[in-house]
Amino acid sequence: MPHSDQLRLEGGGVSVVADVAGAVGLAEGEAGVRDVLRVVARRGPVAVRKVSRATELPVPIVSAICNELRKHGVIAPERPVRLTSRGRALMGAIRAGWLELTCGTCGGAGIAIPPELEQTMRELRRLADRAPRARVELDQSHCTVETKLRRVLALHEAGALEGRAILLLGDDDLISLAIRLVVAEFGLHPPARLVVLDVDPAVAGFIRRRLEGAPLDADIRVHDLRELLPKDVRRTADVVFTDPPYTVQGATLFLSRAAEAVTTGADVFLSFGPKRPLEALELQRALAAMGFTIRELRRNFNEYVGAGVLAGRSHLYRLAATSQLTPVVGRYDGPLYTRELGRNAAA
Ligand SMILES: C[S@@+](CC[C@H](N)C(=O)[O-])C[C@H]1O[C@@H](n2cnc3c(N)ncnc32)[C@H](O)[C@@H]1O
Repeated sequence: MPHSDQLRLEGGGVSVVADVAGAVGLAEGEAGVRDVLRVVARRGPVAVRKVSRATELPVPIVSAICNELRKHGVIAPERPVRLTSRGRALMGAIRAGWLELTCGTCGGAGIAIPPELEQTMRELRRLADRAPRARVELDQSHCTVETKLRRVLALHEAGALEGRAILLLGDDDLISLAIRLVVAEFGLHPPARLVVLDVDPAVAGFIRRRLEGAPLDADIRVHDLRELLPKDVRRTADVVFTDPPYTVQGATLFLSRAAEAVTTGADVFLSFGPKRPLEALELQRALAAMGFTIRELRRNFNEYVGAGVLAGRSHLYRLAATSQLTPVVGRYDGPLYTRELGRNAAA
């Protein structure tokens, strides 16, 4: 045990950390409890949601760990979460070592929204307010307007916007409309082609109506991604952007369609929340099996309206398509959504 505080937490024949990990049945093991303790020591009083974001543990798991730590007198009964004086004594050196290191301009997202986009932001907010309501049975939950803009700016920064053939696999987040607005605001070259495939006719209709007459080659279709891609879409995209259902099955299916859509060297942007260890392993195995490598990972890049087990955040992966592209899923009939697979699959 490298740290003196951890020694104290686990000294004297009593291991608080091991007891708590065992009581919660934590797949992350003792490391998960130490992560929670470190965040609470550094930032407490702190909301469970923030601890969840910092540790990548789902909100209900963080609550369970905190409750166990309360039984050991390490965390105080009050909310937000804070250490007791015993907890502070155990973790004192860690707190003393706390430095605020998150970038104050971008909040850690790595992309700051320029002030010129103020009007665009208002327009997007107006559109988002009129968009079809989120259908939870399809794992829809809308990202914030700031996230919509940051996603388009991330595409621009990566050279994945101007003149590129872009495919959006699902678009309840209205990224197509954000692309149109940002391109117009900055006088950028539009994408060479913008295709949206979504199973929800309300989403497709809403976007199609708002792109009518836009100086964009846009093609918005209702398509269920359980089916293979339409023939005329296969191997045509330079860039794919997707925020799939929250399950590993959902990510694997949507990424298989991405693998059908692109050729070597393409960029695939995947929004996906943190997973528990074995599901994270499953996802990364599937990524590798499909011939994708992870080029960049921006933690907690996406923020969603409303909370959830993932504390309203997910990561943005930039994947690179190698010459070993292999769509691993053909036509798919199995379970896909959080409701079908249960809460564990979503965490
Ligand atoms: C799965 S939802 C999740 C996105 C959401 N913003 C989030 O918080 O993660 C993303 C989009 O995929 C679409 N979608 C869900 N199932 C689909 C399917 N089988 N085929 C095509 N699109 C699908 C939804 O309608 C939605 O527009």
